[in-house]
Amino acid sequence: ALPPPFQTPMPVPSVLRPVSTSEGADRYEITQREATLQVLPGISTPMWTYGGTFPGPTIESRRGRKVIVTHHNELPVPTVVHLHGGRTPAAHDGYPTDLVLPAAWSHLALHGGHAGHGSAGGHGMTDARAVVTNRQRAYEFPLDQRATMLWYHDHRMDFTAPAIWRGLAGLHFVRDDVDDALDLPRGDHELPMMIADRAFDADGRLAYPALDPTLTGQPGVTEAYLAGVLGDVILVNGAPWPVHEVDTGVYRLRILNGSNARHYELEAVAENGRTLPLVQIGADQGLLAAPVRHEHLPIAPAERYDLLIDFGGLPVGSRVRLANRLGTGRTADVMQFHVVRHGASAPIPDRLADDLPEWDRSQATVIRDFAFRAGRMNGRHGWLIDGQPFDPARTDVTTRLGDIEVWRLIADVHHPIHLHLVGFRVLSRGGAEPLPHDAGLKDTISLRPGESAEIITRFDGYRGRYLFHCHNAEHEDMGMMANLEIV
Ligand code: C2O
Ligand code: CU
Repeated sequence: ALPPPFQTPMPVPSVLRPVSTSEGADRYEITQREATLQVLPGISTPMWTYGGTFPGPTIESRRGRKVIVTHHNELPVPTVVHLHGGRTPAAHDGYPTDLVLPAAWSHLALHGGHAGHGSAGGHGMTDARAVVTNRQRAYEFPLDQRATMLWYHDHRMDFTAPAIWRGLAGLHFVRDDVDDALDLPRGDHELPMMIADRAFDADGRLAYPALDPTLTGQPGVTEAYLAGVLGDVILVNGAPWPVHEVDTGVYRLRILNGSNARHYELEAVAENGRTLPLVQIGADQGLLAAPVRHEHLPIAPAERYDLLIDFGGLPVGSRVRLANRLGTGRTADVMQFHVVRHGASAPIPDRLADDLPEWDRSQATVIRDFAFRAGRMNGRHGWLIDGQPFDPARTDVTTRLGDIEVWRLIADVHHPIHLHLVGFRVLSRGGAEPLPHDAGLKDTISLRPGESAEIITRFDGYRGRYLFHCHNAEHEDMGMMANLEIV
């Protein structure tokens, strides 16, 4: 039986303390390990975690201040950490084959090295040593980028979706002076919210239709889930349909859709049926130029929205439901705000940031087309980009550092398309003007079924091999990813 809605208090993921802050960098340690958590009240759920919690701990950082996160892998499988939305040098961007191997595998490799091929050569030993030292990995993030909310998650080749599902996801804030100067709601009036659906079996275990539940052999999901895995329980920060007590002031909601495949259309509904405007002040890659008011707001997997919501004018004691207009039954609810006291109202600024890049089509050195469609890969169902499944050995796009490009994207079904390293602007959607929620600097664009869109970006930052892919995590695992080489 699923828990009744709006009973569990909404947890706020704890902020990770640095182990040191000297020599120009903040250093953090995270151990990836199995943990048994109470996601549903009174029920134990074994999960894979960053540091023993789901979501993992939040990292708070300042623009331009280097962060080094050492991840220790105590899980039974290899892992890869990617900081989604980070402007990160390629070597630290979490390429899907850039594995942090687990302790268990180091053991195997060590034995292999000794018993090995009977050769006296140091080859096996060298391998074993390399493997052993690879049980941990220090990821370095320069974070020279606009203030926003990023997230970190697993990105292992073929197994990203089930790894995220089991719990490998956390939030990472970048702050800067521009954001600070706006004097937006902060402290307990700023709420990070990772919305994610999950399904549970009768024993309280996470249910995921993996072909190989050890996540080491055959990748992929069973036939019925090729479109993506949906859960019937909506979690916010790891709690099912939680409730959060607020005052009558203005709150800043930092929302991530951390779901594998579920899309939401968020709407804040008061008890009298009136909707409260969701005032968007930021997109995936930071503040907008000016606020955009939404009555309801679609959010695709991996997208983030920075919203203000004003509970002023509501009587103390009233409740506001955050609903999902795309859901049915229980998935039509996300969480509830319970107004429990009076609070100070705060003005909503009418100008926000003036540093948004305004690239123009005429500056583009090339226009590229990409089709995101279902197809066959190795005789099985796959999700393809321009007819091809992901191949780490193939370079799909080569671009020059500093070049501005226009990409025309077209989709068969719903595909949220994400580019690593860069933020982009949406130029058009379906041949028309972008939608209100396309405002600002994005790193993920939600293409609706049959829809095309044009985006524009400048490939600056770093040279190296990056990715672009569908962020329906099942589509990503089933081929819908490509290599972008910046030279
Ligand atoms: Cu959210 Cu390639 O990642
Ligand atoms: Cu997709």
